[in-house]
Amino acid sequence: MPDWLKDAVFYEIYPQTFCDSNGDGIGDIKGIESKLDYVMSLGCNAIWLNPVYDSPFMDAGYDVRDYYKVAERYGTNDDLKHLFETAHEKGIKILLDLVPGHTSDQNEWFLKSKRPEKNDYTGRYIWTDCVWEAPPQYRLLCGITDRDGNYMVNYFSSQPALNYGFNKITHPAWQKSPTDPDCVATVEALKDIMRYWLNMGCDGFRVDMADSLVKNEDGEKPETCKVWKNVRAMLDKEFPDAAIVSEWCNPKVSVGAGFHSDFYLDHDTNGYRILFRDKNWETGECKAVFGKNGKGDITKFLDEYLDDLKGTKGKGYISFITCNHDTPRMTRMFSELEAKIAYSFIFMMPGVPFLYYGDEIGMKYMEGLTSKEGGFSRTGTRTPMQWDSTANCGFSTADADKLYLPVDTGADAVTVEKAEADPDSILNTLRKVIAIRHENTDLQSDGDFEVIYAVKEKYPFIFKRGEFFIAVNPTEDVQKAPFAFDCNTVFEIGNHSREGSYLVMQPQTISLLRLEK
Ligand code: GLC
Ligand code: CA
Repeated sequence: MPDWLKDAVFYEIYPQTFCDSNGDGIGDIKGIESKLDYVMSLGCNAIWLNPVYDSPFMDAGYDVRDYYKVAERYGTNDDLKHLFETAHEKGIKILLDLVPGHTSDQNEWFLKSKRPEKNDYTGRYIWTDCVWEAPPQYRLLCGITDRDGNYMVNYFSSQPALNYGFNKITHPAWQKSPTDPDCVATVEALKDIMRYWLNMGCDGFRVDMADSLVKNEDGEKPETCKVWKNVRAMLDKEFPDAAIVSEWCNPKVSVGAGFHSDFYLDHDTNGYRILFRDKNWETGECKAVFGKNGKGDITKFLDEYLDDLKGTKGKGYISFITCNHDTPRMTRMFSELEAKIAYSFIFMMPGVPFLYYGDEIGMKYMEGLTSKEGGFSRTGTRTPMQWDSTANCGFSTADADKLYLPVDTGADAVTVEKAEADPDSILNTLRKVIAIRHENTDLQSDGDFEVIYAVKEKYPFIFKRGEFFIAVNPTEDVQKAPFAFDCNTVFEIGNHSREGSYLVMQPQTISLLRLEK
């Protein structure tokens, strides 16, 4: 286990829209490098960089054309190497984004794979053995290549599925076992890509759709897990300080398979959704625990979380996110105060937390934007970072109509500059919370988590981490709970008081308390 994860706090950077250093309207690596001190000022000591590889950008770079080359619009491989070096001088780790399940249909591997004559890449992707063979349960593209067969896609139609084999084989003529030499070769190719960037200085990978490798398996996905155990064994041997974080959203399984941490994402009815995202957009009804209307149920979250925490204890972590590039920003449904309380809570939880660029200043989800590079409804979460009051909020010197996406320049648009001047801003609040986390191992990744007060459909929620108590009342009402500990206040949004053996939480309050010695 890489030691640095014990106190890692990540910042996710979407390279397209973070900082444009050369005025062409799109963010780039030199731009990111120029903002490392800002990242540090937040207390973030690690970065997850969304894909920066050469790509036709049908899915914002998750359609990789060349795994070994930085996209020209972001700079060069040397620029990226320089970014790693500068980051390391400042004590910042950088994870690249690894896309193992699919490539772009313009990747050299695929261009060879689709040729009619047999070659080294014929079996690198999933193909049926004849164009008339197209079982509808598989997402196949048909009749568009000279090769006689149809190929499976993993996400968008431009993203053919790499071949890691099938668990349950329903069509033996073309579905291979994960132990087939072609599938083994795919895994080896993946490990080579990882070695290349790790040798250049990257500190590991966020792994895209990590559960999507071996087909026809559900539940715990044992064959996909074998691939990751193999990858992890390579890392432990060759790069023991490198970390891998999975987009899987099933930490017991993914950590068991070798990931150091797994994201809690906004999926169906899961714990993360229950906390921060449970809103019916048709009726407007919000049932999120952190909604100020107080309609949430913390016990539903805890049922899942406590089990995941137990299942990962000592082996790996759960990663809470403020948001990511696939999810509407929380400010779409939460006021600035609601978001501030929710984000503060995230940085008081165990595991390895992630802050999505712009959330620290309360950037908006921009409604109604035309899709960009396969963003669709995700586009509103990917707009340029708002730095200051100069043109384009300091993101770029390009003309506004040349920008990758429009900048929010509304009169009420938040910027880093404005947020820095306001002591109560989300920015300054999170800086405090994250600093306190760094000062106290009890509040870091490995620190304990013990429920003190959590009652079905009631507030507040109180939990203990070592010598700290965290009490949170996101609602607009005063909430009370029995609480028999003498404490000092270390940090607080809102206000609490004591009434005999009760803790009284004023509306919209989160308190970090420390046991009196
Ligand atoms: C992941 C990425 C998303 C991408 C998809 C396909 O979910 O986060 O942005 O579109 O995988 O690679
Ligand atoms: Ca640029």
